Amino acid sequence: MPRVYHVSDIHVGSSHFVPELFERLIQEINAERPDLVVLAGDLTDKGLGYQYAEAKAWIDRIEAPILVTPGNHDSRNVGYVHFEELFGPRYRTLRLPGVYFVAADSSEPDLDEGRIGRTIYPWLEEALAHADEGALKVFVTHHHLLPVPGAGRERNILQDAGDLLKLLVNHGVDLVLTGHKHVPWVWRFEGMLIVNAGTATTNRVRGKGLPSYAVLELEPARITVRQRYYGERPEDVFVHVPRLAREVMHP
Ligand SMILES: [Fe+2]
Ligand SMILES: [Fe+2]
Repeated sequence: MPRVYHVSDIHVGSSHFVPELFERLIQEINAERPDLVVLAGDLTDKGLGYQYAEAKAWIDRIEAPILVTPGNHDSRNVGYVHFEELFGPRYRTLRLPGVYFVAADSSEPDLDEGRIGRTIYPWLEEALAHADEGALKVFVTHHHLLPVPGAGRERNILQDAGDLLKLLVNHGVDLVLTGHKHVPWVWRFEGMLIVNAGTATTNRVRGKGLPSYAVLELEPARITVRQRYYGERPEDVFVHVPRLAREVMHP
């Protein structure tokens, strides 16, 4: 049963960055040893080289495999050049026992808006087709695919969210992991579970929100999500039975 920690919006270099939160995150991860840590973008504040170097130094202290995708802040100032040099391809796949991950960059240089874009769809479809038989399929990107409540005025949802949701549903994706809004949330949509992670290591939260990250247990017949907060608030726990709507196919 793979355990995956879904961490997002660490924003190294931001005035909102709280080093003590990253120290605590590292301690928790290194003590609990998940099978994978997903970093769902906004590693840096402005995509600058020194911020990437600092983010890499923090991330290198995490003693677990990592799957990372860039966010809109990481693509500011042509920051995706540093991303590729330090973290590798912006589009990639990864296998754990029984789970198959596809991660795609939703950022555009110097824009806050997100987009996967139709030129990427063939790659995405090809990648999803290579999942092992019976494996859970997980899609990772930075921008949220559905509105997130408690996040202020809705904006920056993926520009092609409708087309992408259809593609993911038709390819039997079970789980989507996103970030960007700094607000943890979970939606169920057409048999998929869509999990938004909050900000793990900053105090740039909305309203009375708290920094947080998500702990996921991935089983073939059961996905458990725990939103874990830094502050006086117990975990939120969601249980989802995947594949109930696998027969749903849109033309
Ligand atoms: Fe962010
Ligand atoms: Fe973002």
